Amino acid sequence: MKGFAGRLSISGLVLLLCMVSLVSQLRQDGVIVHSHIDVNSLWTSSSSSGWRPSSAPRSFWPPPPKKSNGYLVVRCNGGLNQQRSAICNAVLAARIMNATLVLPELDTNSFWNDKSGFAGIYDVEHFIKSLRHDVKIVESLPYVSDKKKKKMKAFQIAPPRDGPPSWYETEALAKMKQHGAIYLTPFSHRLAEEVPNAEYQRLRCRVNFHALRFKPDVMQLSNQIVSRLRAEGHFMSIHLRFEMDMLAFAGCLAIFKPEEQEILRKYREQNFAKKRLVYNERRLIGKCPLTPEEVGLILQAMGFDNSTRLYLAAGDIFGGERFMQPLREMYPHLENRTTVAAPEELEAVQAEGRGLLGPAVDYMVCLLSDIFMPTYDGPSNFANNLLGHRLYYGFRTSIQPNRKALAPIFMARESGGGAAAANFEAMVRGVMSGGTFGRSHRRVNPESFYTNPWPECFCRKESDDPRERCPANTRMNATASEEEGSDGIKRVLSDDVE
Ligand SMILES: *[C@@H]1O[C@H](CO)[C@@H](O)[C@H](O)[C@H]1NC(C)=O
Ligand SMILES: *[C@@H]1O[C@H](CO)[C@@H](O)[C@H](O)[C@H]1NC(C)=O
Ligand SMILES: *[C@@H]1O[C@H](CO)[C@@H](O)[C@H](O)[C@H]1NC(C)=O
Ligand SMILES: *[C@@H]1O[C@H](CO)[C@@H](O)[C@H](O)[C@H]1NC(C)=O
Repeated sequence: MKGFAGRLSISGLVLLLCMVSLVSQLRQDGVIVHSHIDVNSLWTSSSSSGWRPSSAPRSFWPPPPKKSNGYLVVRCNGGLNQQRSAICNAVLAARIMNATLVLPELDTNSFWNDKSGFAGIYDVEHFIKSLRHDVKIVESLPYVSDKKKKKMKAFQIAPPRDGPPSWYETEALAKMKQHGAIYLTPFSHRLAEEVPNAEYQRLRCRVNFHALRFKPDVMQLSNQIVSRLRAEGHFMSIHLRFEMDMLAFAGCLAIFKPEEQEILRKYREQNFAKKRLVYNERRLIGKCPLTPEEVGLILQAMGFDNSTRLYLAAGDIFGGERFMQPLREMYPHLENRTTVAAPEELEAVQAEGRGLLGPAVDYMVCLLSDIFMPTYDGPSNFANNLLGHRLYYGFRTSIQPNRKALAPIFMARESGGGAAAANFEAMVRGVMSGGTFGRSHRRVNPESFYTNPWPECFCRKESDDPRERCPANTRMNATASEEEGSDGIKRVLSDDVE
């Protein structure tokens, strides 16, 4: 009886929430109906307003000291992009400690099934070379004695979550000096993202946007996929995060069949903390990833016609074709890496135990696409880093649907409400027209530094504020990132550090 009453009051609450937001939407109807999105302008980059990406130091930045304080070893965990931000943090930590960085260890857990390590994904030589003005990097710990072939042993520490630079300068440094080397594990989100020193933030950008370059085979395949897509005109990439792990994490179960729900529930139990999760409640606070159908409805409302080509960056779509069908009917030109690249081309980069390389190819295609749209953005994931990277790579258009604002509109449509259904497109367009679409905007908490490195990693030639002004002798600048490299690959990650 109690449970029933509870459920009743929850559904009452949900209904109330829907109505409140519906009323507030309707009241703006005059605005909503007339809101217009110029789709053609979205295919080109946003205006830079004189800003350009720049990660070069703007104040005295000495080279790493000849004598280091010891070796820093870290073990990054998580998916491709969580590890990517961990690598940026590791370089910064080594700089703060005047330490020699050992090439970061990457996660080899079973979910990603990846055993390739740093050298299997990234270009090691380029990484070490392009950071040589910042941090000394070695491939492994040195041998303590030549005869026994015994490697130095690093003292293991679990670093605090979002630790401040002062933790690295004191506690970690003391242990490093005592033992010669420290091993920080696990290492993701272990150094605070917001640090007041803008030079530290620029070092992170040098790592993320210049030093971390995928291996040539990944770059080449990505470039081929992009050229084939471009040969037929512009295209939009969509990070369709409608995969089992995401849905289980988000707890958005009610749209699935009972047997599918069981799979998600089981995965959730095994991998995530217990939590009471109700689909519509989750949806109303923006915690459910968009369904493929919702993606189509948003694009339609924005005015993209059915000839628009969509590149889907995604793993296995949970629930399969049943969920893809509505999107395919709205947008028949759906591509992904297996439809654009030949099987033998993919095989080369996706061999057994190289599970992160598929996501790496998708990352590059999304980076280079004309428009990018994520369907979910959790902390330090694929979508978040791409939003930041696309901003850096010339203010490229990104469409970020506000799921919280859209949920009540979708729910009203599903319940078939007359006025709401009739105004559906106008209402969706009203929400979508509020986006920044890749324009520069000041980062506001809780937006992550990796999602929006503005203003630290951007500068202006003419500015009254000396903090904004471009440095005189730019070691790295935006123009270089657009050059065509000798390998035929667009120099997304420029290497003009001299
Ligand atoms: C690192 O070296 C610089 C000089 O290059 C020095 O000013 C700084 O105090 C050193 N920091 C640590 C933690 O040793
Ligand atoms: C695209 O939409 C138009 C009508 O707007 C329709 O005539 C055409 O058949 C559609 N094309 C595809 C491939 O669905
Ligand atoms: C790409 O799309 C095809 C069908 O459109 C599908 O069978 C395949 O699994 C997809 N591949 C990936 C990697 O998502
Ligand atoms: C950076 O850009 C400026 C012009 O904007 C150019 O003069 C300079 O040579 C560039 N520097 C490098 C290292 O490419």
